Amino acid sequence: MSVVAVIGAQWGDEGKGKIVDLLSEKADAVIRFSGGDNAGHTVINPKGEFKLHIVPSGIFYPRAACIIGNGVVINPRVLLEEMDSLIARGVDIGNLHISDRAHLIMPWHILLDGLEEEKRGEGAIGTTKKGIGPAFADKTARCGIRACDILESQTFKTRLAGVLASKNELLTKMHNAAPLDFAAVFNEYMGYARRLAPHIKDTTSMISDLLNRGGNIVLEGAQGTMLDTDFGSYPFVTSSSPLAAGASIGSGISPRRIDRVVGIFKAYTTRVGGGPMPTELKDEVGEYIRQRAHEYGATTGRARRCGWFDAVVGRYSTELNGFTSGILTRLDVLDEMEAVKICVGYTIGGKTVDRFPADVTALENCVPFYVEMPGWKVSTSDARTAKELPANARKYIKRLEELIGCPFHIISIGPRRDQSIVIKNVI
Ligand code: GDP
Ligand code: IMO
Ligand code: MG
Repeated sequence: MSVVAVIGAQWGDEGKGKIVDLLSEKADAVIRFSGGDNAGHTVINPKGEFKLHIVPSGIFYPRAACIIGNGVVINPRVLLEEMDSLIARGVDIGNLHISDRAHLIMPWHILLDGLEEEKRGEGAIGTTKKGIGPAFADKTARCGIRACDILESQTFKTRLAGVLASKNELLTKMHNAAPLDFAAVFNEYMGYARRLAPHIKDTTSMISDLLNRGGNIVLEGAQGTMLDTDFGSYPFVTSSSPLAAGASIGSGISPRRIDRVVGIFKAYTTRVGGGPMPTELKDEVGEYIRQRAHEYGATTGRARRCGWFDAVVGRYSTELNGFTSGILTRLDVLDEMEAVKICVGYTIGGKTVDRFPADVTALENCVPFYVEMPGWKVSTSDARTAKELPANARKYIKRLEELIGCPFHIISIGPRRDQSIVIKNVI
């Protein structure tokens, strides 16, 4: 039995979907534990290519219970669309379960996300506008609506009435926007409830039973460590915790029962949205990576900002999460480079810094410094063992391991499930 948390180690989009799909073969349950449909997890396997936003990436193995954990905020409309599209493509979703404690994204959350971003002007976070921040804010402010609240119409009516009045005040008085209609929202969500009810349950007890039976559990992270509300590049972060600690809270599994924490690292860095990114390349190299790797968001289609691997971020992420294994993805993207660079520190105001600073202004003004290594100029995509990788690629991997303080146990050299070099089993 093992409980494995799969964590984005950078700013998201590291390839968590591919890796969770790969690991799910041995899983009895796969649990999404944070975020919402701001996530976009790409899975390419014999069933086709899928972009999953809420449904766990273990869904292609009917044996595995796929659980949307209590730590996720759910837009029921998006979830139902995703479920329908999976069914239409022949994927069995009978084993999909939704925590009755998960909060729901309501229409005002989406409106407020957009309105608040507009108000931020130049300082916009660049959110996905999916209502994520406002939904998590309401959860913490204790005025959220949970999956269990829509199962019974009278409970939902009372809960909605209590919340909608103040949300309409906010919309009309603060933002000069139109109010939402009570009956329209009520009927819309009762419609969702009818379809989702069979999936909504007490997943905490399901998970507890599984743990007691000694099952293998994969905890699927969303976003990445640098988007964490506490430790990321605040305020340019998301509103839940993508960290290993978040896996515990967002699923109801005690930290003592998580055996392994796996950090997914892209072989370079990307970021979507606003906020500092010390190694961003605004030149032809950055553009080359974007085009070669097709670095465009799986959720919003926005161009991802690209840059060299940042080992300051890598080390910080390893410390925060306690990675027992690293997984390096997209190594093949660098195959044609003459030389590759790794950021090993920053200069801020003339001082050398090798820790990730809290202050966003310091981060915006930091100048990264690099070590440069020769490229390998050979395709890595067909390698299936570490030995088959070119020597310079192996040197690059080794240097990264030393800098971040964590060994890579899987190297991913293509988007497909089989394009993976497993050095050591992580589940
Ligand atoms: P996630 O949000 O962490 O699941 O990552 P995304 O799916 O948003 O973005 C990762 C992208 O990289 C997807 O298009 C994947 O198909 C792709 N991908 C994953 N691993 C590899 C790899 O090793 N090589 C290449 N070339 N693409 C990969
Ligand atoms: P996956 O799971 C990359 C970013 C947004 C924005 C910030 C806040 O696919 O790795 P939000 O809508 O969460 O309030 O936006 O976080 N962001 C992501 N970036 N991958 C993601 O998820 C992301 N989810 C949110 O672009 O900068
Ligand atoms: Mg993604």
